[in-house]
Amino acid sequence: MRQTHLLSSLLFALCGSVGVTAQDAPTYRDELLSFHQSIVEISSISGQETEAGDYLIDYFTEKGFSTERQFLPNSTTRFNVLAWPPRTTNSSRIILTTHYDVVPPFFGYSRSGPDPPTAETVISGRGTSDAKGSIAAQSMALFDLLEAGTVTGDDVMLVFVVGEEVSGDGMIHYSNTVAAQNSRPDVAIFGEPTNSTLACGHKGGLACTVFAQGLAGHSGYPSSGKSANEILMRALVKAIDADLGNDERYGNTTVNVGVMAGGLAPNIIPANANASLAVRVAVGPEASGHLIVKERLEAVMAEVDPDAFTFECPFGFGAVEIDCDVDGFETDVMAYGTDIPRLIGNHTKYLYGPGDILKAHTADESITLGELESAVEGYKKLILHAVEGNSTRKYKN
Ligand SMILES: *[C@@H]1O[C@H](CO)[C@@H](O)[C@H](O)[C@H]1NC(C)=O
Ligand SMILES: *[C@@H]1O[C@H](CO)[C@@H](O)[C@H](O)[C@H]1NC(C)=O
Ligand SMILES: *[C@@H]1O[C@H](CO)[C@@H](O)[C@H](O)[C@H]1NC(C)=O
Ligand SMILES: *[C@@H]1O[C@H](CO)[C@@H](O)[C@H](O)[C@H]1NC(C)=O
Ligand SMILES: *[C@@H]1O[C@H](CO)[C@@H](O)[C@H](O)[C@H]1NC(C)=O
Ligand SMILES: *[C@@H]1O[C@H](CO)[C@@H](O)[C@H](O)[C@H]1NC(C)=O
Ligand SMILES: *[C@@H]1O[C@H](CO)[C@@H](O)[C@H](O)[C@H]1NC(C)=O
Repeated sequence: MRQTHLLSSLLFALCGSVGVTAQDAPTYRDELLSFHQSIVEISSISGQETEAGDYLIDYFTEKGFSTERQFLPNSTTRFNVLAWPPRTTNSSRIILTTHYDVVPPFFGYSRSGPDPPTAETVISGRGTSDAKGSIAAQSMALFDLLEAGTVTGDDVMLVFVVGEEVSGDGMIHYSNTVAAQNSRPDVAIFGEPTNSTLACGHKGGLACTVFAQGLAGHSGYPSSGKSANEILMRALVKAIDADLGNDERYGNTTVNVGVMAGGLAPNIIPANANASLAVRVAVGPEASGHLIVKERLEAVMAEVDPDAFTFECPFGFGAVEIDCDVDGFETDVMAYGTDIPRLIGNHTKYLYGPGDILKAHTADESITLGELESAVEGYKKLILHAVEGNSTRKYKN
């Protein structure tokens, strides 16, 4: 009897300390879960962010923060959410930032796993990871440090922007505004799904539509015309296979032919065709790496036909170097783009966030509670690193 009793006490003590039980839950678990759920439940597909923005403003106001709806030019519905704890100056040195718009289609919040939730709990829904997971983790990190008295609003504020998934108009507007007000941050901590690694850089991007000009004719007599579809296909395959620029850190430049169109009817040699490409640029510098790639792309396609192609490439940037010299983090590089190059200035920049980018934008986007919670701790470490003045700028714009 006694022995059994001893054994069960021992087992109880062991389970209590090593098992994944509610006792291991960080103090912010409930708040993290409910805030994350609330923001994921509101659809905020790029362009239609108003309701989620209003929710964020109300939430931070209730937490005692000052808030601002930073409306985009020409818009009465789309705004960046700025929120800061009490401060003595008119700006904060460090911004915690990410975007609150999401890609379509919207699908709702659900949770699977044990009840009450544990670190293994899987949370599904559009934006759970990209990037409302970052919003929730950044916010909890800031609340925790404020409560501990280690930071104030003079140190840190929150900047949640719109439009990242489309044109970056939210971050561009924020950047223009802080430049005009002379209130640029010294440090910007960007949140995107990095699998909770600290990113040392990410690929650049180049968006192009390529137009092929052929010559119409009867399909029975191919040599009487020039097929725009055919030359465009041959040239695109060449571009996909070509080395458009590679780098030890960033790997290969890659070409996604996202949209193609051309021709009028099966029995007409097509006179016109076009294709829209998203090129992921593996070479720098940030300001001009994409121009090197554009030149190579044009040259490779010209090998198929020197006269047929014209290019419209409305925007691009080279590979982006990011500060990552902080103890206690695993580091990696990302193959996707972010708002980082849209925030102009010589600030220190970090990129870190919960979630796997391979699950973002998918039909079953999800994240675990454990990922969110470990990112809260990661953000706290990054903020403290920056507050203690340990952020040194390694790369210049
Ligand atoms: C949008 O705003 C910009 C800058 O505030 C202004 O120059 C432009 O004329 C506006 N465009 C429209 C369509 O209102
Ligand atoms: C904020 O303070 C800085 C430095 O004192 C000043 O240059 C700037 O004009 C102020 N900005 C605003 C919007 O008041
Ligand atoms: C990069 O492209 C080269 C061919 O140009 C190929 O051999 C190599 O496997 C590619 N690397 C990656 C990481 O895909
Ligand atoms: C591409 O070609 C298609 C079919 O000819 C046409 O409908 C479309 O407008 C073109 N795209 C662009 C961007 O011009
Ligand atoms: C960044 O620093 C460089 C070199 O010191 C300087 O030329 C440039 O104007 C700075 N850019 C901004 C936006 O402050
Ligand atoms: C993120 O981590 C998961 C789990 O370890 C792994 O399967 C996945 O490949 C990682 N994602 C990237 C982009 O490296
Ligand atoms: C900042 O640097 C100091 C001195 O090297 C070190 O003691 C401290 O732990 C660092 N803080 C962080 C958060 O990395």
